[in-house]
Amino acid sequence: MKVTTIGTGYVGLVTGACLAEMGNHVVCLDVNAEKIRILNEGGIPIHEPGLDAVVKRNVEAGRLQFTTDVDAAVNHGTILFIAVGTPPGEDGSADLQYVLAAARSIGQRMTDYKVVVDKSTVPVGTADKVRAAIAEELARRDAKVGFAVVSNPEFLKEGAAIEDFMKPDRIVVGSDDEQATLMMRALYAPFTRSHDRLFVMDVRSAEFTKYAANAMLATRISFMNELALLAEKVGADIELVRRGIGSDPRIGYQFLYAGAGYGGSCFPKDVKALVRTGREHDQELKVLNAVEEANDRQKLVLVDKIVARFGEDLAGKRFALWGLAFKPNTDDMREAPSLVIIEELVKRGAAIAAYDPVAMSEASKMLAQVQGVSFCERAEHALADSDALVIVTEWKEFRTPDFDRIKSELKQPVVFDGRNLYEPALMSTLGIEHHAIGRGT
Ligand code: NAD
Ligand code: UGA
Repeated sequence: MKVTTIGTGYVGLVTGACLAEMGNHVVCLDVNAEKIRILNEGGIPIHEPGLDAVVKRNVEAGRLQFTTDVDAAVNHGTILFIAVGTPPGEDGSADLQYVLAAARSIGQRMTDYKVVVDKSTVPVGTADKVRAAIAEELARRDAKVGFAVVSNPEFLKEGAAIEDFMKPDRIVVGSDDEQATLMMRALYAPFTRSHDRLFVMDVRSAEFTKYAANAMLATRISFMNELALLAEKVGADIELVRRGIGSDPRIGYQFLYAGAGYGGSCFPKDVKALVRTGREHDQELKVLNAVEEANDRQKLVLVDKIVARFGEDLAGKRFALWGLAFKPNTDDMREAPSLVIIEELVKRGAAIAAYDPVAMSEASKMLAQVQGVSFCERAEHALADSDALVIVTEWKEFRTPDFDRIKSELKQPVVFDGRNLYEPALMSTLGIEHHAIGRGT
């Protein structure tokens, strides 16, 4: 099939590359000329494991192209994915300006039947707005061309995007158009090991499903973070509690890790947007308000522990900080807890020696205005002359570090373990003062 993605970010690029892998002919469009230049020169603008190989293979096979040419891109695809950003507006609602601009650019150019797919995360009712924007542009140039708008939210996780797209738990298609449904089924047939993985539903339910999924996952995390704070007070270990409850299949093990708070481009904005949708319909989503509030507090938990240990005035203190990205295996720094932690420590006079395996270039851009932050080429380099080690992101290489070196290079062997990487009993045996999350320390 001929496919176009409008927007070549995390979702658009992964969608385009994975659909090309199944034999489709895909054109990825972006307004960001720099991104398209990098892709056309064989580079990948984001860090995503396995993506480079899929892109390279399909570009070489002539099935995957990148362009800034809107006319060519709109004319190429019969199926057009809108995969542009939907950042939070000032009031927390999803800003639809990029989605609607993409819709208008389709309406201004299309000359034959198109299935327009909302892949971006968009509030209930957006498909109607996309349909109206396209229809308005068609009417403006008096063109009579058929089209359908379907919702097909994306559930991939950064850092595991290729795996998630290639082997989805489910594919949700919101459609009220029979022909479009058939085309979506055919497009996704290679990804659905059995047809019960593809759920066709009405458009509004599909749009809602995406927010419900992210809100549920964020709720689990905030719930565990809140229990972790209490566990510290009552002398329980949240890691043992996690295993104890996760073994119940009704609860399950995933997304029960207490830590330094959730970040990323999606949970924070999607929780906000759903709360906002509730307000627009006179319904306060009380649980989600609390989820957000608990997460804001959680991002400060490591700072509170550091202040409790070293005092409010951190002038003259230096902290080694491992892990800047909002989660491992990505260079994405959007809403990363590390940003809040660094800002709070620097505000109190501390210096930060930071290390991240891939996110330092992104981080240095976002922290350009913050004084007192230096970046180290290797994790160990951050340790020398630091007063303590602070772990914010659970990259694999931090799991079994050289503890002797941590002990000898830090001024004092103090570790703030924001992702519960180390066993408290082992740390105690090694003579390392270990401050974890919800583990009685
Ligand atoms: P992104 O910022 O990485 O990419 C969006 C791209 O769209 C940018 O490159 C931008 O230049 C481009 N763009 C904007 N307007 C355009 C236009 N009119 N024409 C062509 N290109 C245009 O965003 P993302 O992370 O890929 O997210 C896209 C959507 O998918 C969001 O709604 C997000 O919530 C959702 N989503 C993201 C993820 C994820 O893991 N990142 C997962 C599931 C869903
Ligand atoms: C999340 C969802 O997992 C995807 O299904 C969804 O498609 C995506 O949002 C989206 O809509 O964009 P992502 O943000 O890439 O994916 O990453 P997650 O693995 O969900 O992690 C989000 C945050 O939660 C991270 O900061 C992570 O550290 C934190 N987290 C995750 C925890 O604190 N504890 C956990 O147990 C799991």
